[in-house]
Amino acid sequence: MKHLNIPIVTLDGPAGAGKGSVGQQLAIMLGWHFLDSGALYRSYAYVFDQLGQHEKKPERVKEYLQDSDLVMLPSATGDEADVLVNGNSIGKEIRSGEFGSKASRLAADPAVRDALLDIQRGFLRSPGLIADGRDMGSVVFPQAQFKFFLTADLKVRARRKYEQLKNKGFYANFNNLYNEIKKRDERDSNRSCAPLIPPEDALILDTSSMTLNEVVECLLSLVREKTVNT
Ligand code: DC
Repeated sequence: MKHLNIPIVTLDGPAGAGKGSVGQQLAIMLGWHFLDSGALYRSYAYVFDQLGQHEKKPERVKEYLQDSDLVMLPSATGDEADVLVNGNSIGKEIRSGEFGSKASRLAADPAVRDALLDIQRGFLRSPGLIADGRDMGSVVFPQAQFKFFLTADLKVRARRKYEQLKNKGFYANFNNLYNEIKKRDERDSNRSCAPLIPPEDALILDTSSMTLNEVVECLLSLVREKTVNT
């Protein structure tokens, strides 16, 4: 019960809605911890790929991740969070479209989601946590005091991902990305286990025509208002 009073902000929503950039800014500004659960699912896919055929089991990947020194580093520069496994950065590799799709496919398996549950909850530490993903407010941290669901027009989201990949030096094709995100949205929203849907008690924010700073300021003022008054 020692975690009872630690504040949690959950940011759920589809790919490209701005959760990662917003979440990192909030974490840095509030001095709170940051969980990019999408990066965790991507890391899962990365480890899964490296394991031998007979070892490709959720318990084995979980064991590997729990035995590793797993660090998530928010970026102050608007980049995506880095992930270090035993000191080695895998942040760049796992951000490719290939790992996005692999993560989305693996994430539909309830055994995979179950394997990552304790690891995600382990990120909850004082003074607070910003958790970004698809089911943060609905399944992983249903007790969160602040639940936001960020969304944006599919074209805007594909454009954001396109710019992000280009800036990282990856090959990117807008139409392919648009179709890939559309497919991922459908798979993430229609799976039977922990689908991507706004939690009932979440505030839904369409970021299509908002800048990153506008979204951050909006959420920051809501969080500060409540944490100061309680
Ligand atoms: O946020 P992202 O695009 O890096 O996530 C990659 C995939 O991981 C996403 O398509 C679905 C899956 N995912 C999930 O199922 N649940 C989460 N909480 C986070 C990600």
